[in-house]
Amino acid sequence: MKKNEAMKKLEEKIKTCKKCPLGELRTNAVLGSGSYDAKIMFVGEAPGYWEDQKGLPFVGRAGKVLDELLASIGLKREDVYITNVVKCRPPNNRDPTEEEINACSPYLDKQIDIIRPRIIVPLGRHSMAYILKKFGFEPEPISKIHGKVFEARTLFGKIIIVPMYHPAVALYKPQLREELEKDFKKLKNLLENLS
Ligand code: URA
Repeated sequence: MKKNEAMKKLEEKIKTCKKCPLGELRTNAVLGSGSYDAKIMFVGEAPGYWEDQKGLPFVGRAGKVLDELLASIGLKREDVYITNVVKCRPPNNRDPTEEEINACSPYLDKQIDIIRPRIIVPLGRHSMAYILKKFGFEPEPISKIHGKVFEARTLFGKIIIVPMYHPAVALYKPQLREELEKDFKKLKNLLENLS
C-alpha cells in the first residue's frame, strides 16, 4: 500500500477511535503533519487546546518554538514529520496516563512503519520513555538524556533516536532554550552525515 493511502486509513481509524476515554472528549483527533518521506520524525506528547481545535500537531505556543528551532537548522515543517504519542487532547492539557499511552501507541507504531524515518526525536519525557522502551533502551531523566544519540536496528534498517526537551520548556524555563538549540545543531549534523 502507498504511504498516503496507509496514512489516510490510519486517519479514518483515529477519527472514530474510542479505545480510551479521551475519545469522548476530543474536538479533533490529531494524527500528524508533514512529509511522509521525511528523514526526521518528531514525536511530542499529546495535542493541546489549539491542536484539538485544528486537528494539527504543534500549532500553539510550543509549536511556534518548534518552528523557530527547525528554522535555526534550515528546516521547515514540510521537511519533517510531526506527531504525538497520544492523538487526543487530555483534559486541561494534563500529562497523558499510562493507559492512554498504551491504548494509543499502536497508531504511532504504525506511523513509524509507514514513514520509516532515519531519525526519531522524542520531545519530552513521556515520548522519550515510550520511544526508548520501544527500541529496547532504558529511559532516564530527560535532563540527563537529552541530546544523547541512540542507535537501534529495525526491520527497515538502522534508526537514530535523539531525545530532546519538549519545546514548551523554553516558554517556562527560558534558560533551557539554549539546550534545545544545541540539541538541534546536533540533529543537523546527524542529518548531514546520514549514509
Ligand atoms: N504539545 C505536544 O506535545 N504536542 C502538541 O501537538 C502540542 C503541544
